[in-house]
Amino acid sequence: MTYKTLDLSIADAVATVTLNRPEKRNAMNPTLHVEMTDLLEQLRYDDAVKVIVFTGAGKAFCAGMDLKEFFVELRDNPREYDRITRLAVEWRYRTLRYHPKITIAMINGYCFGGAFSFVEGCDLAIAADEATFGLSEINFKMFPGGSVSKAIANLLSPRDALWYGLTGYTFDGREAARIGLVNRSFALASLRDEAIKVARDIAGKDAVALRAAKEAFRYSLEMSGDAAMSYSSAKESEVVLRQNDAWREEGIGDFISGKYKPGLGGIEQASGGAHR
Ligand code: ACO
Repeated sequence: MTYKTLDLSIADAVATVTLNRPEKRNAMNPTLHVEMTDLLEQLRYDDAVKVIVFTGAGKAFCAGMDLKEFFVELRDNPREYDRITRLAVEWRYRTLRYHPKITIAMINGYCFGGAFSFVEGCDLAIAADEATFGLSEINFKMFPGGSVSKAIANLLSPRDALWYGLTGYTFDGREAARIGLVNRSFALASLRDEAIKVARDIAGKDAVALRAAKEAFRYSLEMSGDAAMSYSSAKESEVVLRQNDAWREEGIGDFISGKYKPGLGGIEQASGGAHR
């Protein structure tokens, strides 16, 4: 599939996916939802990719759902409205959350409404200090619908979620970091370098361990303590099998033989390359 609304580049095991409708502030139209669904499926099976960074072309990260092409133009087409709604919820709320690759939202500018679900679905998020966030739905006589209310309930304190959900006030990247919507914020001029550095650091880790770290966290959230312990134990056996016990043989083995100190970094940093 060739994409009209997305741009993809891959380097050093990091895929960068750029929402590419700058003239519409990267609003998510039906085509974008179809294309993102397809692209996430492709990247799922791409062995050259360990981390995916999402960003936006131009001065926006994503201005939310396309208010015209989605809410207005599909009003009289309930079947297509339902189909696109399902795709839109699925890729942001479920596909990203359980995607086998590690995902990072790099918020370079405007980020409104439905884009909060996108950010929340990613494992990590890094924003420009200068980015502008807002739950703008209340400004046009709506509420944070679709997957947005659940996304903000997952990440924000009730005070912050209702503060921004009820007022529609905008806030910047520093505030997004303060309230836990993103991990960190940096000056826009250094945003890409900072995000790519984190992405490459993560890409230097063992792929099986990365996936287990993500899945153990994601699924533990949904389990009782006892079920989580049992899951974790089964997951450990899976890691041993899939890695051929490399975490013991190499990971711990190289520490015991004095090659590196895992408390201070990975073997890949000590040897200047990827973990064997
Ligand atoms: N849906 C559809 N089109 C949009 C959207 C959107 N969410 N956001 C921007 N656009 C379009 C504009 O209509 C305009 O199109 P045109 O050039 O054909 O007239 C173009 O993008 C540029 O928009 P401007 O408003 O001229 O750009 P500016 O940089 O001044 O402002 C801003 C950007 C602040 C994002 C403004 O466009 C805006 O408020 N957009 C709506 C944001 C929003 O409320 N999103 C919905 C959240 S709710 C949800 O996702 C469910």
